[in-house]
Amino acid sequence: MEIIELGALAEDFTADPYPVYAKLRGAGPVHRVRTPQGQEVWLVVGHSEARAALADPRLSKSPATVGGTMLDEQVVGSSLLVLDPPDHTRLRRLVAREFTGRRVEALRPRVQSITDGLLDAMAGGGGRRADLVDGLAFPLPITVICELLGVPAADRDAFRAWTTEIVAPSGEESEYAAVHALSGYLDELIEDKRCSGPADDLLSGLLRTRAEDGDALSATELRAMAYLLLIAGHETTVNLIGNGMRALLSHPEQLAALRADPGLLDGAVEEMLRYDGPVETGTVRFAREPVPCGDAVIPAGASVLVGIAAGDRDPARFSEPDRFDIRRDTSGHLAFGHGLHYCLGAPLARLEGRIAVRALLDRFPDLALDPAAGPPDWLPGLLIRGVRRLPVTW
Ligand code: HEM
Repeated sequence: MEIIELGALAEDFTADPYPVYAKLRGAGPVHRVRTPQGQEVWLVVGHSEARAALADPRLSKSPATVGGTMLDEQVVGSSLLVLDPPDHTRLRRLVAREFTGRRVEALRPRVQSITDGLLDAMAGGGGRRADLVDGLAFPLPITVICELLGVPAADRDAFRAWTTEIVAPSGEESEYAAVHALSGYLDELIEDKRCSGPADDLLSGLLRTRAEDGDALSATELRAMAYLLLIAGHETTVNLIGNGMRALLSHPEQLAALRADPGLLDGAVEEMLRYDGPVETGTVRFAREPVPCGDAVIPAGASVLVGIAAGDRDPARFSEPDRFDIRRDTSGHLAFGHGLHYCLGAPLARLEGRIAVRALLDRFPDLALDPAAGPPDWLPGLLIRGVRRLPVTW
């Protein structure tokens, strides 16, 4: 199959990849492409094929399947996202018992109070304009995940630079430096927790965790888990709030409907996830054997990206998929993935997203995108979809 240059298909693929995905989907559910960053991968763009691929055991998450390793895996250790069963099953079980729905629901009052505090600061900033990413979308999830894990407040600013660089690298050297910096930081933090007395945070909990059979996380496994939770815990949710509010504020009739009927909130957040979710393609998978997909066969050894954003705009699954409609049935959207690697943090992300959107609408009755702002500055890469800034006025 001929290689398609994604970057050549649109003037600005990163700003608006959806027409490119639609064109590819029209020609078939999977394509051999070169990403704008130069990687050669098989990209799945149909919804049912994407859903099937996310749960297909023939598509391994472990780079060792094709004889490789990932940069962060070499430095930090193997996290859930680069493991297959039985290693994945074992680690996920150890963390899931600490990361329960009960723990997440117990965070509700705290998430609300962090949100209210951030909006107080935004409203009290003097003007009637602010950057919504800086004011709320970034600090809310990072504060929550750091409190949950037990990362001191003073260290959080350093993360912003490191984690953003890791999910949307601006270059190989800076990515390498960021991975090393975060890994070294986590080693020190874990050592501190090991030496201090029992505490109620998740990292301390994970240090103590022992399953019935005596199984526990090794030091490397704990570091890799903390690394993944920190990154996955905020680099995604920031863009649920950013992309979601951008969509809502650009559709005045949908905004008015949500203001008039707060009962539409949960559906609105699901539509934000479907319409322009934070994860554009899943993390890379590797074909253990030839895998048929549509009329094509993904060859053994190929790297595969599952198009989450592409699948969620498939007209075969969602009618008029390019229409932002907070009342639509969004069930089956792929924003949190599917199968064994389904997002561990989905309940927390939903809690934060719903609280943030509700609080913004309540606090600022005339919130709008800042008409004086220039074109958005999109994060590079195919993994995360989001803007660096979202200027708003009220
Ligand atoms: C709106 C916010 C979020 C979105 C859209 C999102 C999306 C995803 C997706 C698509 C995957 C699967 C990736 C794949 O299969 O390649 C995933 C996995 C994961 N997410 Fe999230 N996520 C969000 C928030 C969070 C939060 C808040 C946390 C943690 C507190 C979290 C922790 C994880 C973990 C640990 C995994 C790996 C699970 C595994 O491999 O078994 N995520 N997420």
